[in-house]
Amino acid sequence: MDFGMKNRLSRIIKPRSGKTVMLAVDHGYFQGPTTGLKDLRKTVTPLIPYADCLFITRGMIRTCIDPRSDVVICLRVSGGPSILGELSNEDITTSMEEAIRLNASGVGMSIFVGAGNEDRTIANLGRLVNEAERYGMPVLAVTAIGKEMGRDARYLGLACRIAAELGAHFVKTYYCEDFYKVVEGCPVPIVMAGGKKIPEREALQMTANAIKQGASGVDMGRNIFQSDNPVGMIKAIRAIVHKGASVEEAFEIYSKK
Ligand code: 5RP
Repeated sequence: MDFGMKNRLSRIIKPRSGKTVMLAVDHGYFQGPTTGLKDLRKTVTPLIPYADCLFITRGMIRTCIDPRSDVVICLRVSGGPSILGELSNEDITTSMEEAIRLNASGVGMSIFVGAGNEDRTIANLGRLVNEAERYGMPVLAVTAIGKEMGRDARYLGLACRIAAELGAHFVKTYYCEDFYKVVEGCPVPIVMAGGKKIPEREALQMTANAIKQGASGVDMGRNIFQSDNPVGMIKAIRAIVHKGASVEEAFEIYSKK
């Protein structure tokens, strides 16, 4: 890895702890005005000081993020279908030139393993990595699994390994039972997506489990910004990820208004 690639990745995955708390706010790229993100600027502004990185689209960066802030960006560069269409029908929608212009520290796209357009999305990842290598830009592969497949260690492990084989520099996947098996089969850092909103204590427990089993942090959205105390929740997640806080300690942090 050359200096630019390593240095950008170090802005996202902090060298001191070897971990990251990414805040995912890209949901609108296929879901439209997702609950909690209708007014993205209002939701995200108070969370920025506690996020190591935002996972976000170019349109929302331009319209909702203060360019004078020192926020670190991982740019979602894939898209195409809406929630009403075939989700795996994605392509690369944002250029590397645009990522550099926006001062991104990484770019991210989804692969859909076991879904209709599996092969095209995986080939797209290969092409994105080819381009990203030229500019020292880390690539995050987001692993989506076909509807009929369980979100279990077998299929998530398959998707994460394929992403690493294709050259992704880090991978995002969901938590599952025996998460350590997913980590074992994937030689690049894995960050955990939060998934649908669940009670805060359960989300904190899931985060602690993932970290214990080898996750390099989280790229979490709904379980932070849909919480009744988003700032408390991101602080609590940080305490687990960066400081190894217990679920009880983290829950106390969340509970403080
Ligand atoms: C969707 C994404 C989202 O960023 C991802 O799902 C993380 O958000 P959440 O924690 O709400 O699941 O990549 O494809």
